[in-house]
Amino acid sequence: MKEFRVSDIDTQVSSRIIKSAVTPRPIGWISTTSADGVDNLAPFSCYNYISSDYPVVMFSSKVKQGGKPKDTAWNVANTGEFVVNVVTERLAEQMDQTSAELPADESEFDFARLERADSTHVTPPRVADALISLECTNIESLDIHDRAVFFGEVETFHIDDEVLVNGKVEMDHLDTVGRLGGPYYTSVNRMELTREF
Ligand SMILES: Cc1cc2nc3c(=O)[nH]c(=O)nc-3n(C[C@H](O)[C@H](O)[C@H](O)COP(=O)(O)O)c2cc1C
Repeated sequence: MKEFRVSDIDTQVSSRIIKSAVTPRPIGWISTTSADGVDNLAPFSCYNYISSDYPVVMFSSKVKQGGKPKDTAWNVANTGEFVVNVVTERLAEQMDQTSAELPADESEFDFARLERADSTHVTPPRVADALISLECTNIESLDIHDRAVFFGEVETFHIDDEVLVNGKVEMDHLDTVGRLGGPYYTSVNRMELTREF
């Protein structure tokens, strides 16, 4: 067993370790619309929900070299809205393509040939083929080290009939993709544990 004191190691090393240790991570595939009306789409695996009865999600966006925010962060800060699209296996390839750093006036929806679907309560469109999407309004933001952290109140869920059984999401029908360290992703390998207590 080796010990790595964070204050003694390079930031690249700690980054690599944390990205391998916190796995698998859910992927928030986040659509936003710029003030100029350009639809942006990018994956964020620093993503989770932090409250469920009153659903709130969070994601963090690294500030780029020179202090520039990523387009997603800029759009959320300026418009207060975003949509989280759930990534399933059939969308994995296109999700990965949307991590391309395109100029702010080009849309990753078009780059990855993804169809848009209108949202109902926010401006950013949904990924039409996503089986679940969450319309969110930004309720809080924080700056932590080199990250801008955004919290979003979920206003509306969109759920495809394909994953609904008797009005509930059937986990057997949702092949969610997760992020591992390095270039790796993981797909669902369901393991059921029965509790004796
Ligand atoms: C699966 C995956 C997860 C990612 N997670 C994050 C993340 O949590 N935070 C981040 O800043 N960048 C993350 N990235 C990189 C961004 O997607 C990438 O920088 C993208 O170009 C940002 O787009 P934007 O400038 O349009 O917002 C991730 C990339 C991939 C492929």
